[in-house]
Amino acid sequence: MSKTLVQFIIEEQRNIPGASGDFTGLLSDIEIACKHIAHQVNKGALIGVLGSAGSENVQGETQKKLDVITNEIFLECNEWSGHLAAMASEEMDEIYPIPAKYPKGKYLLTFDPLDGSSNIDVNISVGTIFSILRCPEGVANPTEKDFLQPGTKQVCAGYALYGPATMIVLTTGNGVNGFTLDRDIGEFVLTHPKMNIPADTAEFAINMSNRRYWEEPVQRYVEECVKGKDGGREKNFNMRWVASMVAEVHRILTRGGIFMYPFDTKDPAKAGKLRLMYEANPMSFIVEQAGGASSTGRQRIMEVQPTNLHQRVPVILGSKNEVERVVGYHSGK
Ligand code: AHG
Ligand code: MN
Ligand code: MN
Repeated sequence: MSKTLVQFIIEEQRNIPGASGDFTGLLSDIEIACKHIAHQVNKGALIGVLGSAGSENVQGETQKKLDVITNEIFLECNEWSGHLAAMASEEMDEIYPIPAKYPKGKYLLTFDPLDGSSNIDVNISVGTIFSILRCPEGVANPTEKDFLQPGTKQVCAGYALYGPATMIVLTTGNGVNGFTLDRDIGEFVLTHPKMNIPADTAEFAINMSNRRYWEEPVQRYVEECVKGKDGGREKNFNMRWVASMVAEVHRILTRGGIFMYPFDTKDPAKAGKLRLMYEANPMSFIVEQAGGASSTGRQRIMEVQPTNLHQRVPVILGSKNEVERVVGYHSGK
C-alpha cells in the first residue's frame, strides 16, 4: 500500500530523539485544512464562493471571498489542538494568538491561505503556502517580534497545490516529498518522493509587463534568455507565467526552471511583490532542499533578517546554475 502523508511524518519523526508527536499532530491539522480548502476551491461557483469579498487586506489588495474563507479554515483547523502558540497570515494585519480556551503549544505557523487568488475566478491553479517556526523558549504569549526569525530557522515548510490534482509538497529539512490527494480514500499519498530540481534549465518565469521597472542585472538576464542562441547563450529559452507562485514552484520542482519576482521601481515603497514570511521563506526552504537556489539577487533569502511580518522581498529562485548567473550579474560579474 502507498504511504500516506501522516504515516510518512510519523516515520520521519521516529528518527528524531525526544520528538513528542506535537509536530506530527500539527501537520495532520494542516493537512485537514488543505483538504477543506481543496473542497471549497473544487466546488467553486457551485457553492457561491467565487468573486470579491468587497474588503481589503493589510497589503491594500482586494480580498476574494475565498481569501477570507480559506483564512478562516486555516485558523479553525489549527487553533484548537495545542500545538501552536500563535499564527500569522497574509490576510490578517496582526498575529493571531491562540484563544485562551485552548491549550498553547511550542510552534508558530505563518501562511498564505490562498496563493494566486487572482486566478480563482478563471479556474486556474491556486495554492496554500505555510511555514512552521519554533516559538522562542520561555515565551508564553508571543508577539509579532517572536515571528521575525530568518528562514533558516524554519522547522518545516510546504504548500498545497489545487490543480488538476490536489497535492501537498513539503520539507522538514530532510529533502522534499510530494503527496497527491486520493479522493477515494480521502488521504494524501506519497507520489513524488525526493523531489529534485535540475541544476540547468531552459525555462524562465517572470511577469514581463514589469520589464521597464527592473534593475539592470535582471534586464540583462532576461534579454539574454529572450535572444537565446542568437544572443550568446548556449541554448534557446521558453517562458511561462501562471501568476500563482505555488504553480510556478511546482513546475520548477518537476522539470526545472527559474522564477523571478525581482526588485522593481514600480512602487518605491515595496522592495518586491512577494512576502518574506509566508511566501518567499517557505518556498526558498523547499527549493534549497530540492537542490535549487533562492536569492534576492544580493542575499540568500533565508538569511534575510525580517523586520516586519508582512515585509516584501525580491525573489529569484529555481535551478541553481541559472539563479547563480543572475546573482552574479547583481554583483557585477
Ligand atoms: P496572492 O494571491 O497570495 O496575493 O499572491 C499572488 C502572487 C504570486 O502567487 C504570483 O507569483 C504573483 O503574485 C503574481 O503577480 P502578478 O499579478 O504581478 O503577475
Ligand atoms: Mn500569495
Ligand atoms: Mn494569498
